[in-house]
Formats: sequence, structure tokens, C-alpha cells
Amino acid sequence: MTSTTKKDIKEVAANFDFHGEALDTIFDTYATLRSKCPVGRSEKYGGFWFITKSDDIFAAEQDPETWSVRPSMMFPPVTDAELPPIDSDQPEHTDYRRILLPLFTPKELKKLEEPIRETARAQAAEFVAKGSGADASYGYARPVPTIIFSNLAGYPEKDWPKFDQWVDDIIYERVEKPEVMRAAEKAVYDYFDALLDNWKDDPESSTLIDYLCRAKINDKPLTRDELLRYCYLLFLAGLDTTAWAIRAGIWHLAHNTEDQQKLRDDPSLIPMACEEFLRCLSPVQAMARTCLKDTVVRGQEIKAGDRVVLAFGSGNRDEEIFPNPDKVDILRQENRHLGFGGGIHRCLGSNLGRRELVVGIEEFLKVVPPFTPADPDQKWHGVGPLNIKF
Ligand code: HEM
Repeated sequence: MTSTTKKDIKEVAANFDFHGEALDTIFDTYATLRSKCPVGRSEKYGGFWFITKSDDIFAAEQDPETWSVRPSMMFPPVTDAELPPIDSDQPEHTDYRRILLPLFTPKELKKLEEPIRETARAQAAEFVAKGSGADASYGYARPVPTIIFSNLAGYPEKDWPKFDQWVDDIIYERVEKPEVMRAAEKAVYDYFDALLDNWKDDPESSTLIDYLCRAKINDKPLTRDELLRYCYLLFLAGLDTTAWAIRAGIWHLAHNTEDQQKLRDDPSLIPMACEEFLRCLSPVQAMARTCLKDTVVRGQEIKAGDRVVLAFGSGNRDEEIFPNPDKVDILRQENRHLGFGGGIHRCLGSNLGRRELVVGIEEFLKVVPPFTPADPDQKWHGVGPLNIKF
């Protein structure tokens, strides 16, 4: 890294990407950028600035007057529609977010504790029955959050494979095959549209769909369009992220059998280990903002209107914040990571996502005997196959 020339670093910056194969070597790229070009410009996707240091990312997160989330936090965007509350600025953001808060209180989470555990336990038993070499991603990490979400949202559990496929098409195909993404997006909207058509106001029922149908902003019910955009966002935000986190945890434990044994010997360490998975192997590597007024970050001028990417995955390995930042240290005490963001848009489902991850790993370790990777080249990132031997 010390031999990186100015020309090299310009090239690294210009080619900086955080999707697809770029993720294979992204931690080396982040380290180079943090030390030589902490704020820089990539020419990918029509051009964007990136911010790689933890403090700068937190500062931007906490300054929504300079950094707008519109037109989309996802970059490149997954959809033309702005999704509430993730793509809304203040003051609308406050109302759009507030309406969801009652769904994510500790009391609501408590109600979900048993269903989460039962789902994880049942899926772990099904997975182990497939035998050594089975795919822990498709066979476990993906179904667990998708089934939990189906119960929460109020659609038939048997439909989870459809959702799983749509998430894949939307999140992972959007860059290479936008037509596949659009078809899946339409299918998801049609699906929720039909659920809303058949909605009956049953006071006994308390699914997410029921809750949204009864919700009001300033005494006005949500429009059909708002309802659909909420459903779409919650589906996008809660499935792939949690599946990635569970898969990443299993990936790490398959490659680091000492850590696996430590968690088997003392399951009370699992929540702390999960924070490390969220820090080092974050499902959300970056989110975008739009600069609203000319500003300077670490000496670099950024103009109003420019798109900027906050590289959470880099901030999470910032050597100025985390000693030995590239080590997944399951006993790490201080862990102020950016896995769930950090400002007014901080993940609303963080407690739910965390619980699914922790319970997901607990149940997996209880049911599946000691395991190692069946193929050592399987990637750390994404929700692709993760075959393991046990
Ligand atoms: C391990 C799992 C998860 C991870 C890593 C994750 C990560 C994130 C991140 C990084 C953001 C953007 C924060 C920012 O820019 O400051 C976000 C926003 C959000 N997430 Fe999550 N998320 C997870 C699970 C969930 C779940 C399960 C749900 C709900 C079902 C959810 C709902 C949301 C919502 C509604 C927002 C937008 C909040 C706002 O704009 O005010 N997330 N999440």
C-alpha cells in the first residue's frame, strides 16, 4: 500500500464500486482509500463522491440539512418511486417514520421472540436433515427472515419462496439486468395490491398490513400509493439484510472453527459475536445521499446536487476507531459500528434484525454439528450459496 502512486490511487478511486464482484476485494480497497483518498470521486454509475472515514460518515448522517436522502438512498436506485421513510427528507420524514414506530417497540419485539425462535429451530432441523454439504444460505439464512416477515406482514407463509426470488431479482440483478428488476418490482406491487384489495378490517388482526391500513398521518389515512410504497420498502429493507447477516455469521464460523467452538461452549457470547458480524461483514456496505449545499469534507469540495455515497463498510473498519479493524473479534467490547447507519434514518428494524440474527445463530449452533466450508472459495458477501460440511 505504501507504494501506491498518485496515479494508482486516482485509478482506485475512479473505479470504486461496492456492488457484485467489487465486494470480493473491497476491504483492501477501503483501506487504500481511507489512507490515501478518504473522500474521492468514482466514475461508476454516472459518477459519485464517496466518504470512507467513520467520523465523516457519522457527521453526514447527523446533518440532514446538508445531506438529503432523495431521490433514493439506494445507489443506483432500486426504484423510481421514493419509499417512505427511507427516501424522505424532513419534515415529511418525521411523520413517515413516526407512523412505523409502534411496530418496532420492545413490547412488539417481545411478542415476536417465540415465533422467531420456532421458525429458526424448524428451519435448522430441516437444514440438518439435508445432510453434510447442504447450502446454509438457501436452506437456512434466507428462509428464516422471509418466513418471519410473512407472518409479521400478514401474507401466507407458503409464499416465502416467491419473496425470496423477488428480493434476489430486485437487489442483486438491478445493476446488470434492470428489466429483471422491474418485472420483480411489478410482481411485488401486484402482490401487495391484491392483499390490500382483500383487506378486511378485523380488530382482532394485527399484522403489518392491518396496522398500515388503519394508520393516519394528520388524521388522514394513507393513500393506496403510500400503503404500497411502505409495503415495498419494508419488504426490501428487512429480508435481504437479515439473510445476509445470518449467512455472514455462518460463513465466519465455518471458516473460524475456534470461534465456532467458543460460541458453542458459551452461547452467552453470541450477541457480542453478532455485533462483529454486523460490523465486519455488513449487509449494507453503503448508502447514498445528495448534497444540498456546497460543502467541504476533509478538504474536498462537494457541490450542491452531487451524489455522495457513505461507505458504511469502510467506516466499520476504520483503524482510527477500531483496534485491529480487519479482525472479526467475537469478544470485541467497544463496537460503535455503522451496520444500521447512524442518524435520523438509522435502521428502524435494527432490534428485530438483531434478534433474528442472534436467535438464528443460536438455533443453528444448537442443531447443526460442528461445520466447515464445503467449498473454501464461497464468498463472504451476499446471499449466494454457502455449502457446509458437518
Ligand atoms: C441485520 C439486518 C438489517 C440491517 C443490517 C439494516 C441496515 C439498515 C441501514 C444501514 C439503514 C440505513 C440507515 C441510514 O442511512 O442511517 C436501514 C434503514 C431502515 N431499515 Fe434496516 N436493516 C436491517 C433490518 C431491518 C428490518 C428487519 C427492518 C424492518 C422490517 C428494517 C427497516 C428499516 C427501515 C424502515 C429503514 C429506514 C429508516 C428511516 O429512513 O427512517 N431494517 N437499515
